[in-house]
Amino acid sequence: MKVLGILGSPRVGGNSDILLEQALAGARGAGGETEKIVLSKKKISGCLDCGKCNEHGVCAVKDAMQEIHQKILEAGAVIHSVPVYFWAMTAQMKAYLDRWCAFFDGEWRVHQAYRPRMQGKRIGLITVCGDSDVSTADPIVHSFRNTCHFAGLNLLDVVQASASEKGEIADNEGVMKEAYALGKKAAAT
Ligand SMILES: Cc1cc2nc3c(=O)[nH]c(=O)nc-3n(C[C@H](O)[C@H](O)[C@H](O)COP(=O)(O)O)c2cc1C
Repeated sequence: MKVLGILGSPRVGGNSDILLEQALAGARGAGGETEKIVLSKKKISGCLDCGKCNEHGVCAVKDAMQEIHQKILEAGAVIHSVPVYFWAMTAQMKAYLDRWCAFFDGEWRVHQAYRPRMQGKRIGLITVCGDSDVSTADPIVHSFRNTCHFAGLNLLDVVQASASEKGEIADNEGVMKEAYALGKKAAAT
């Protein structure tokens, strides 16, 4: 089982990254093969709503998403990890998510050619916010939950954490365990 990790924080080595690494370790522990993509290191524009993907499912914007679309299709599970920026997901994660538009046809159904590889795909989500109340990240959860429901994907348990300083989350044993368990579940056959 291939498990793809998507980091939506530009702070490499930060809290979302630590939790994502933990989840990917869990996936490897369950026999999965893992890969991590750091969105802030890639050139990814927002969706232009040009509609060109509606026919063939190929995005007209030529940037890093071309390759990422393929990696998503090939993966059995995709685990996302993202901090809250102004009560929402980061710009990097939003640009990436908007480009999922290419998976849909003109009727907003998953392109027929992609259905066998998308149907039931396991999706993981980890959120981190500075607020001690982890529900501050609920708008991100809402966005992923609805996207998964809409696309027929299987959203696994969501891990919601609170931390501010870079790397602080490593001291939170409970949430580190949750992230590991999420990765394990994502890779389980
Ligand atoms: C631009 C920016 C906006 C932020 N907005 C919020 C916010 O609205 N609510 C919140 O709880 N934390 C907010 N934070 C704090 C981050 O979510 C927090 O520091 C988190 O640990 C960062 O995760 P990272 O280490 O993975 O980058 C913000 C941080 C930045 C840099």
